[in-house]
Amino acid sequence: MSNLNKYIISYIVLVLTICSVHAIPNNINKRYDSDETKCNDFCQKSKLPLANFSSEQLTGFCSSTVIGEVPSTAHLPSILITKPSYGEIIQLNKDFIFEFKYVNFEPGAVANLSTEFDRYPQSIHEEGNIIGHYHMTIQKIPSPDAVPNPTNYSFFTPINYLPNATETYQVPIPGFTEEGMYRACTYTTAKSHQCVNLPTGDRGPIDDCIRFKVEKIN
Ligand SMILES: *[C@@H]1O[C@H](CO)[C@@H](O)[C@H](O)[C@H]1NC(C)=O
Ligand SMILES: *[C@@H]1O[C@H](CO)[C@@H](O)[C@H](O)[C@H]1NC(C)=O
Ligand SMILES: *[C@@H]1O[C@H](CO)[C@@H](O)[C@H](O)[C@H]1NC(C)=O
Ligand SMILES: *[C@@H]1O[C@H](CO)[C@@H](O)[C@H](O)[C@H]1NC(C)=O
Repeated sequence: MSNLNKYIISYIVLVLTICSVHAIPNNINKRYDSDETKCNDFCQKSKLPLANFSSEQLTGFCSSTVIGEVPSTAHLPSILITKPSYGEIIQLNKDFIFEFKYVNFEPGAVANLSTEFDRYPQSIHEEGNIIGHYHMTIQKIPSPDAVPNPTNYSFFTPINYLPNATETYQVPIPGFTEEGMYRACTYTTAKSHQCVNLPTGDRGPIDDCIRFKVEKIN
């Protein structure tokens, strides 16, 4: 028997062993059970359609993509927005630069949106940082207690390219035509567009947000 065949047979035996030891409970309310995800049939019990790896599955789907490689706490990504400054007043209709600095991330890697969305597990670079890309989004905050609707934004862009300077991105933003309070945030994803998976919940956030104002300055 070739080594490859031996490998395949031991793999099948291992998977069958794991799945029989951790029998799948029938209770649908326990779909989050780790035993079920281990056997990779979580989506067979879901009412949602299977992932087809296109970002167009806007009514939801079920994915069996595994989490993948998770970095150590020495490689937790982190961001600080440096422009505009917090609370800055920006002239109506005036273009400006959104700038942020980051650490512990390997950016500029983007999977195909129509065929690879959520398709691959997270990967880490040989130096230990998550491989992925950034986005930034700006939303209008009509009043201080109005929770923003995430489907509604004034500006959004994925950041598919390498940084403009060492660990610093500068994103040109076209001038805003409406006065008011805005919230600008970064958001970090792995290469296949899923949110990043981290080794601890006991930490600071990965992304940053600021508020700024757009006003007609005379
Ligand atoms: C994936 O499924 C969605 C509906 O959930 C559909 O609109 C889209 O065309 C499908 N894409 C592919 C590549 O099959
Ligand atoms: C993504 O994949 C589709 C289908 O194979 C292809 O038409 C498209 O050009 C690809 N997009 C990019 C940015 O490579
Ligand atoms: C979207 O935001 C604009 C202001 O930027 C607001 O006028 C509009 O009502 C919002 N729409 C929804 C559906 O929240
Ligand atoms: C940063 O680089 C990107 C991609 O090359 C470019 O589109 C953008 O204009 C650059 N930003 C500045 C402020 O030059």
